[in-house]
Amino acid sequence: MTREDFIFKRVKLVSGVSSWESPSNIALIKYWGKYDEQLPKNPSISFTLSQCKTITIIKYRPKKENENQNFSFLFDGLTMQSFNDKINLFINRISQYIPAVKSHFFDIESHNTFPHSSGIASSASAMSSLALCFMEIEKQIDSKISETYFFKKASFLARLGSGSASRSIEGPLVYWGKSKAYKNSSLLYGTVLKDISPIFNSYRDTILIIDDSEKKVSSSLGHELMKSNPYAENRFIQADKNMDRLRNVLIKGDLKSFIEIVELEALSLHAMMMTSSPSYILMHPNTLFVINEVYEFRKETSIPICYTLDAGANIHLLYPNQYFKKVQLFIIEKLLKYCHSKQFINDRVGPGSKKI
Ligand code: PMV
Repeated sequence: MTREDFIFKRVKLVSGVSSWESPSNIALIKYWGKYDEQLPKNPSISFTLSQCKTITIIKYRPKKENENQNFSFLFDGLTMQSFNDKINLFINRISQYIPAVKSHFFDIESHNTFPHSSGIASSASAMSSLALCFMEIEKQIDSKISETYFFKKASFLARLGSGSASRSIEGPLVYWGKSKAYKNSSLLYGTVLKDISPIFNSYRDTILIIDDSEKKVSSSLGHELMKSNPYAENRFIQADKNMDRLRNVLIKGDLKSFIEIVELEALSLHAMMMTSSPSYILMHPNTLFVINEVYEFRKETSIPICYTLDAGANIHLLYPNQYFKKVQLFIIEKLLKYCHSKQFINDRVGPGSKKI
């Protein structure tokens, strides 16, 4: 599908309520670097999560005459200026694809199931739940739109809010960006990966909260700095190759190669931050202590556990469901001391968003 296929032309005044919940995701192959209207410089793929999610409710009605503002936003019942700015930008961007946005007022309320000050990226769950609510509004105007189109366009819109949000609509694994590994892959929206070993359907992601403070460098700035990073072109080639390699690994359930690729991707992402100009480090000393503990635990027990990182200090521990109890013990005995206020979240791979 092309960008033009997502331009909705019908305008009708409607009112109602739409409400969706959508999870966060954790990338195995990392998206880092973009161009034009939130298009990725390299393909990425992620596990859709299930516990860490955002719930969004939009009450909408035709805009009154002389009403300048077209939305209000409350997060956990509070006004947040930084969120308002992001939503404003998002609504402006999607207005060319959903013209009703210009003629309506939206009363938006969101909350997260995970602490928003935990340092966990919430833009993926927040923007995907918003996009789904707007698609619900489009559906009220045109009830004939198919389910496939609904979810594709929700992913397309979510991408305009936050690139990684395009991968949060469905699950358990979603790829986004042009990749030679997947012929139907698109720069515009995420696609569900169907051909996977069953082991990944119940994979666990335990998130260790190493640092709960706001990121020192935002992802937007991080993407921007890739434009002048001297290693960027090679990084995009590397991501492409890793995507290609991961394809068979996911089909076969080859956990040894899975671990190798996933950890390489995590460190490559952070290597890009360290080699940007200005350079910066988002890992915390405890991030490195945990990484070393994981190496040791894996060597001693042969449990196929690995780590990955987002654009932050927190660690995501990825492992098959059958090792849950052993990994919990490992966390409690060895890793809790590195976690901020001993916080960690047991999440797992899930099917994606849900209408509520
Ligand atoms: O979606 P953004 O613009 O917040 O970028 C996030 C990118 C990473 O989370 C670091 C990696 C990824 O692919 O999710």
